[in-house]
Amino acid sequence: MADHTFHVHRYDPEADDEPEFESYDVPVSDSTSVLDGLFHIQESLGKNLSFRFSCRQGVCGSCCMEINGQARLACQTPVTDLDAKQIRVRPMYNLPIIKDLVVDMEPFFEQYRRVRPYLAPDDLPVPASRLIGKIIGLLAARVPPLDLLEGTARAGGSTQQPPSRTALRSPGRR
Ligand code: FES
Repeated sequence: MADHTFHVHRYDPEADDEPEFESYDVPVSDSTSVLDGLFHIQESLGKNLSFRFSCRQGVCGSCCMEINGQARLACQTPVTDLDAKQIRVRPMYNLPIIKDLVVDMEPFFEQYRRVRPYLAPDDLPVPASRLIGKIIGLLAARVPPLDLLEGTARAGGSTQQPPSRTALRSPGRR
């Protein structure tokens, strides 16, 4: 296993005046994802690092972060695909930062509630979770707010689909 250096955005609003990047050496194999690297920092190096994840399969979108300057899903980004020994990880640029790599999703959910990007029959509950991943993908792709509104509206109402989250994936992922 070769060591890579992760430069990770650290910020605790209760303790820090400014965010800063801290560097950690992380052992990496061909199958190590960026999310695995963050787990290593948290568990093996004993760092109190905050980040979001859920499915670890590229479905939920909760591990979206900026990795070496691009919005990516950390669980679907093999470190070796980045072709760099220095890995810079920071939270998504377009949402307020709560702590470390965790962003406040409320602006996203506010847009989601406003747009209602789904068909809503009067007598059926709406499976809202089905479209959340697509909207996160649009946010991650840096779609301007007006395009986002149009894109999410299209997602529920026409045959023209917004950009798929698969566009964010690198080739050769697990
Ligand atoms: S943890 Fe769900 S997409 Fe990465």
